[in-house]
Amino acid sequence: MSEQLTIALSKGRILEETLPLLAGAGIEPEEDPEKSRKLVFETTVPGVRLLIIRATDVPTYVQYGGADMGVAGKDVLMEHGGDGLYEPLDLAIARCRLMTAGVAGQAVPEGRVRVATKFTRLAREYYAAQGKQADIIKLYGAMELAPLLGLADEIVDIVDTGNTLKANGLEPRETIADISSRVVVSRASMKMKHARIQPILDRMGEAVARRQ
Ligand code: ATP
Ligand code: PRP
Ligand code: MG
Repeated sequence: MSEQLTIALSKGRILEETLPLLAGAGIEPEEDPEKSRKLVFETTVPGVRLLIIRATDVPTYVQYGGADMGVAGKDVLMEHGGDGLYEPLDLAIARCRLMTAGVAGQAVPEGRVRVATKFTRLAREYYAAQGKQADIIKLYGAMELAPLLGLADEIVDIVDTGNTLKANGLEPRETIADISSRVVVSRASMKMKHARIQPILDRMGEAVARRQ
């Protein structure tokens, strides 16, 4: 019997773009994950299964051995920290920027800045690097509301087209990082299951290159 390999995928927008790249490596779910309530899917490759989980949980599953490898946004990976993880492949999907933003035309206060974000670690590091004192307020979504309601002076959030900021009277300010989704592999699996994992990375890499 072939060795088990578990791949953790983020549900939502990354999933849609990841499945064709996995298919490029010959791995296809036996059932359409977008149409099922299942969380684990067998694939066309014996022993290879997919977990479909929250984006922010992917690095945790891989780090603690619940999955051998996974796909997650660089934003999520940076916020989580890279302990025990390799990041061997940039899939160049779900591209966006991690940015600061605030109410259009409104200056940042001289002293402490109140910053609302779900990326508390990255925001703390960013403002510290700027030499700016920041009070970080943790939110789980709809960050764009916070400056409008006087909860914060700025937000740190994902920006793609800028439409969400614009629709809420906000302006993009500084880019903290360019983001795309990456394959992560646990250090343990890379060692123990290298013969299984490396051809998948190679074939996914070729599928990415074909799309450029
Ligand atoms: P959850 O809904 O579970 O809190 P999420 O909002 O981070 O998670 P998605 O919206 O599917 O889940 O985003 C997954 C990843 O896609 C993000 O981590 C980021 O890397 C990228 N991303 C998020 N928003 C956009 C966007 N508007 N355009 C392009 N890429 C994006
Ligand atoms: C993401 C992100 C921004 C928006 C940016 O939200 O959190 O709000 O996209 O994209 P834009 O610059 O193209 O407008 P998403 O659609 O994932 O909703 P969410 O709040 O449920 O994560
Ligand atoms: Mg989102």
